[in-house]
Amino acid sequence: MSKSTNIVWHDSVVTKQARQDLKDHKSAILWFTGLSGSGKSTLSVELEKKLCELGAHTYRLDGDNVRHGLNNNLGFSPEDRTENIRRIGEVSKLMIDAGLITLTAFISPYQDDRNNVRNLVEQDEFIEIYVKASLEECEKRDPKGLYKKARAGEIKGFTGIDAPYEEPRNPELTIETDKQTIEDAVETIVTYLQEKNYLK
Ligand code: PPS
Repeated sequence: MSKSTNIVWHDSVVTKQARQDLKDHKSAILWFTGLSGSGKSTLSVELEKKLCELGAHTYRLDGDNVRHGLNNNLGFSPEDRTENIRRIGEVSKLMIDAGLITLTAFISPYQDDRNNVRNLVEQDEFIEIYVKASLEECEKRDPKGLYKKARAGEIKGFTGIDAPYEEPRNPELTIETDKQTIEDAVETIVTYLQEKNYLK
């Protein structure tokens, strides 16, 4: 793929601040990361519902869905996962600019990739949420039957089996889905957003 040349950045006349001033909340990326089956999608779906009830403008990006469209040319090699997360980061940045609370649910197994997204936006605009569940628990849940296939050697490079998952070093929040109910987890995140003045 060749790189674009002779391109010039144009600042928007309507600023991010002007868009944010129209809303009762700050924009941010709620970046859910965790093993397949850890509960990222379930939790982000329920949280988005709650945020909507509270009047926040949100958008949710989810691993499986984004890989059907925007990222349908990417697989699960380390390079493709890095590119997957880079694109999601750039899309999330646009959504922040648009004044939304963006919820992303991707395994995002590499700390460097997550840090690169963090560094794309303002310091307080990236909230890393580690959706933690043991591999044993995720394998027991196996909602899509993928762990079974990975153990049988039918899927190569499956996260947690024969591909790595690097646990977040300093996430803003850790939610242990094998210890906390989804309702409690939603409450924990909403309280965090209120205490840090993301939600007014
Ligand atoms: S990544 O690592 O962030 O690029 O992955 P992501 O875009 O979130 O996609 C994860 C979903 O793809 C399915 N799947 C796999 N996951 C991990 N490893 C391999 N090899 C793989 N192949 C397919 C799986 O359904 C993941 O969905 P979740 O919701 O995480 O279970």
